[in-house]
Amino acid sequence: MPNVVVIGAQWGDEGKGKFVDLLTLQADVVVRFQGGNNAGHTVVVGGKKTILHLIPSGILHPGKACVIGNGVVVDPEVLAEEIAELKASGSLQQDDQLVLSLDAHVIMPWHKALDIAREHRAGAGKIGTTGRGIGPTYEDKVARRGLRIRDLLDDQRFARKVKERLASAREELARLGASLDVEEPALLKKYAELGRVLAPYAKDASLWLHHAMKAGKSLLFEGAQGTLLDVDHGTYPFVTSSNTVAGNAACGSGVGPTALHRVIGISKAYSTRVGSGPYPSELKDETGEKLRAVGAEFGATTGRPRRTGWIDVLALRYAVRVNGLDGVAITKLDVLTGFPEVKIATGYRCGNRTFDEMPSDLETLEKCEAVYESMPGWTEKLGGVRRWEDLPRNARTYLERIAQLIGVKIVAVSVGAERDETVVLENLFQKAHA
Ligand code: GDP
Ligand code: IMO
Ligand code: MG
Repeated sequence: MPNVVVIGAQWGDEGKGKFVDLLTLQADVVVRFQGGNNAGHTVVVGGKKTILHLIPSGILHPGKACVIGNGVVVDPEVLAEEIAELKASGSLQQDDQLVLSLDAHVIMPWHKALDIAREHRAGAGKIGTTGRGIGPTYEDKVARRGLRIRDLLDDQRFARKVKERLASAREELARLGASLDVEEPALLKKYAELGRVLAPYAKDASLWLHHAMKAGKSLLFEGAQGTLLDVDHGTYPFVTSSNTVAGNAACGSGVGPTALHRVIGISKAYSTRVGSGPYPSELKDETGEKLRAVGAEFGATTGRPRRTGWIDVLALRYAVRVNGLDGVAITKLDVLTGFPEVKIATGYRCGNRTFDEMPSDLETLEKCEAVYESMPGWTEKLGGVRRWEDLPRNARTYLERIAQLIGVKIVAVSVGAERDETVVLENLFQKAHA
């Protein structure tokens, strides 16, 4: 059966959660492979909104399995809370619906404290992180001194590792003028309890996925953040600390890259970004404010107002390239209703230089301003539209122009937050070249 990878093609918050929830109707297993609870993925079904931070967005479908892969960094407290909330609202009724990789790294309280203290120290030069300890946890992973879920399940080993790490974390925090408000015995007690809550889900996730594929199950990989936030391919250093691109779906889950059959990027019909960093098509005017207000552009994790702008085809073409996208799904088209004109960034100007591909140098990118193509808008409300031919002509022309400029087809268009508020143009699971 085909496996499909869904990733963010912009700066995150593209509507990945909505699409993954919709596509789960056809998949058997949904897999998170990177990031942590810096992610906030919103799913709306029957008027009920669920924001998922760690558990894949397929979890609202009874009988579908969700896997948190080795590439994810897990805050045990957040995961335990998410599990409890889902159970209380009638989802996740069976423990075998959730698989947590034994190799996923654990976010500890000092990671969060360090994240916040470093940002504070950086002042105006801060990244604008979510403050969830993501960067410091990945640092420890790469430095080969991290704690993993398998450590959390072994009280003695965990205590030994905490002792080793806690002293140096306290020293670093003190250098930053911060401290950690918890004593070792209380910390160990709390994490031993969390370990017991998470133990039923902890497995060799790579092996579990191998068996699932052998049994003919199809996998849906759910990216977090977005391409321009990738630690290698994004606007470094204004990025997150993991690889968000499709290639990492293999590495972060323990399946081979030949098992990734199709890659779909999600993009808003305009653009947003949370946190610092270059954003050539940003609108700092009334139009930007209108996009924020109509699109309810406030972070699902931190509640911060999102920066807003027009869609940027240089960024999207870049996402097509580094992810090998087969197609894109465009979300929030309904938000553009009522704008007299809609614009597409088709190039950048930087002094007397022009660009038609994203410059890789941050200092150049920071000085770039977008050059636009303008098109007439539309006034019709789109929430009830389910077929391509029922979209207003100007909206279709707008989408067709985007597809032409980025060189891949549009596979779906989202016209509202609800699962069914979608124009599906292609059956991704049927047509995948498995
Ligand atoms: P994710 O992180 O990529 O999953 O995206 P978020 O959940 O952080 O942000 C997307 C927001 O847009 C959420 O509030 C969704 O409910 C909402 N959303 C998704 N698709 C649509 C759409 O087509 N129209 C509207 N109006 N809202 C949408
Ligand atoms: P989803 O999965 C949007 C941004 C932060 C900051 C940078 C680094 O919901 O799309 P971090 O806490 O990861 O070290 O912060 O990355 N960021 C996101 N922006 N959506 C997200 O996730 C994000 N996760 C992190 O705002 O600029
Ligand atoms: Mg989000």
